[in-house]
Amino acid sequence: MCGIFGYVGDKDVCKVLYQGLKSLEYRGYDSAGIAVIGDSLSFVKDAGTVDQVLSSIKLPSKRAGIAHTRWATHGKPNQINSHPHFDENMKVGVTHNGIIENYKELKKDLMAKGHTFKSQTDTEVIPHLIEDYLKLGNFEAFKKAVSMIKGSYAIVAIIDGSEKIYFARKFSPLVLGANDEYFVASDVTAFLRWTNQAIFIEDGEVGYIQSKKYYIEKGGVEVKRKPTTIEWSFEEAAKDGFDHFMLKEIFEQPTTIRNTLVSKKLEEFANHLNTLDKLVLTSAGTSYHAANAFKYASNIPIDVIVASEFTSLYRGGEILAISQSGETADTMTAVRYAKSLGSKVDALVNVVGSTLTRIADKTIYTHAGPEIGVAASKTFTAQLAALYAVDAHMKGNPLPQIDVKPGLLHSKEIKKLATKLSGAKSMFYIGRGPNYVSAMEGALKIKEISYIHAEGYQGGELKHGPLALIEKGVPVVAICPSDKYREKMIGNIEEVKTRDAYIIGIGQEDDNELKSLSDTFFGMPKTDYPTVTYAVPLQLLAYHTAVIMGRNPDKPRNLAKSVTVE
Ligand code: G6P
Repeated sequence: MCGIFGYVGDKDVCKVLYQGLKSLEYRGYDSAGIAVIGDSLSFVKDAGTVDQVLSSIKLPSKRAGIAHTRWATHGKPNQINSHPHFDENMKVGVTHNGIIENYKELKKDLMAKGHTFKSQTDTEVIPHLIEDYLKLGNFEAFKKAVSMIKGSYAIVAIIDGSEKIYFARKFSPLVLGANDEYFVASDVTAFLRWTNQAIFIEDGEVGYIQSKKYYIEKGGVEVKRKPTTIEWSFEEAAKDGFDHFMLKEIFEQPTTIRNTLVSKKLEEFANHLNTLDKLVLTSAGTSYHAANAFKYASNIPIDVIVASEFTSLYRGGEILAISQSGETADTMTAVRYAKSLGSKVDALVNVVGSTLTRIADKTIYTHAGPEIGVAASKTFTAQLAALYAVDAHMKGNPLPQIDVKPGLLHSKEIKKLATKLSGAKSMFYIGRGPNYVSAMEGALKIKEISYIHAEGYQGGELKHGPLALIEKGVPVVAICPSDKYREKMIGNIEEVKTRDAYIIGIGQEDDNELKSLSDTFFGMPKTDYPTVTYAVPLQLLAYHTAVIMGRNPDKPRNLAKSVTVE
C-alpha cells in the first residue's frame, strides 16, 4: 500500500502536493517524492518521511505535479527505488500503488529495445512503457501501457510538455477531487482540505485531469460521473470511514491475501525448503501463531520456538523467522544467536528493508501494506497465506483458494454477541489440530484489545485442568470446522456444555449438530484453510467487544506495535 497524489491548478503545486501527501502518510512512510511539470520534468525523492524528504523543497512548476509516499514492496526503501519513476529521457514520470505481476517480462522486453533501468521496482516499467508508445499521442500511449500491465494498480503519470495528469485504476483505490481545479489521489484525505467533491474511479477506468476539466473512460467509452459530497472529517477519511484502523485492516483482508498469494518469490523459496530435512521457525506474538499453523501443514519436520525462549531451546538447523515489523527485539536476538552458531536464516516479513531483512540470507514478503492498529489482523492472514502458498508449492499442489469475505459478513451479528461478552471475566477458545492455532490467536486478540482474560486451549487438553474453571455462563469459543478433528471436538464441546458454559460455535454452515450445541453459532462455507477464514470472525469478535467496552482497539494499553526491547 502506498499513497499517491496529483494536482493541476493555480496554487503553489509543491506546497499542495506536500500538504496532501502528509495526509496520506498512514498509507506508507518509508520514502516520499514529488515530480512537477515545468520547462521540463523535475523531481525530488528519497527514503524517509514526507517531512524529511519534502518539507522545504521548491521546484520550478507550471501548475501540475504528482507525489508519492511509499510502502516498499519491490526493492528497499532508498533514493533510487522511491517514486516517482521516469524513463531515461525524462519524458514520463509515474507514481504507482499496487503490484505489477508481469514486470519482469515487460522489463526484459523493454531492455531488449534499449531501455535502461535504475531501480529494483516493478513500477519503473510503466514510464518506460508509456515512453515507448509516445508516438501514438500521450493518452493513447498511456492507455496502451496500462493495457499491457497485469496485477493491481493505481497509476498517475505526467508527460513532459503536457499539463495533464493521466490516471488508471485496477484493484487499488483512486479518487478525483473536483472543484475549479482537480486532484487525483489514493483517498480523499489528500484533498479534503480543498474540496469535499469526490469522483470515485472504478476498476478498469483510465482518464486524465487538467485545468478545469476531467475525463474518464472505460473500454474506449467515455464515463460520465457526478461528484459525491464527502461528509467525513480528515480522521474518518484516513480510516476510509471505518471507526478504527483495526476494523479497516480487517476489511482489507480479501485484497491483502490476494496480493500476498501472487508473489512469485514464494515458489522459489518453496523449492529451497524442499532441499532441507528440517526447519526451525521462530517468532513472537501473532507471528508465532502463524509459525505454528505452518508446522501443522508442512510435511517436513518443523520445530517452532517462541523467539524469547530461542537461545535456551535452539539445537541447530536452518531458521525461518517470521515477523510483521522485522524489528521485534526477541526475534532479532534469536536470529543473531542462530547466525553466531553458523546457521542460515530466512525471513518472512511485512516491512521491506527492516532490520531482519538485512540480516537474513533469504527474505520473502507478505504484501499486507502498513498495519496501523497495534493488534495484528491483516498481517496474520497474510503470513498464513504466504506460508500455505509455500506449502502448496512444496507439495506441487495448486495455489490456495482462500475467501475471507464470508467471515466479514458476520460483522453485525458478532457485534450483537459482543454486547453479551462485554461482562465476561474470562473466556476460553478451543480447537484441535490447526484450529488450536486459531484458538490461541482468537484468545490473544481478545485479551490484547478488550482486556478480558482469555485462554486458547487444545480441545483435548480441557479435561486436564481448565475444565475446573468452566461454570455457568463462561464463554467458550469452539472453533470446529468440518474437518478430521470435528468429531472429537464435538465431544469436547459437550464436556463444556454439560457444565453450562456459553458456547459460541464457529463451524461449517451445514453443521446442524454444532449449531444445536451452540448458544450462538457462526456458519462458514466449506474451506481447506480454516485458520485463515475463521481468523476473520475471531478478529471481529475481539474488535466489537473492545469497542463496546470503551477500549481503543487501535492503541491497547501497555502494548506497542513494534517491540524493540527484550
Ligand atoms: C507485538 C505486537 C503484536 C505482534 C508481536 C510480534 O507484541 O503488539 O501484535 O504480533 O509484537 O511482532 P512482529 O512484528 O515481530 O510480527
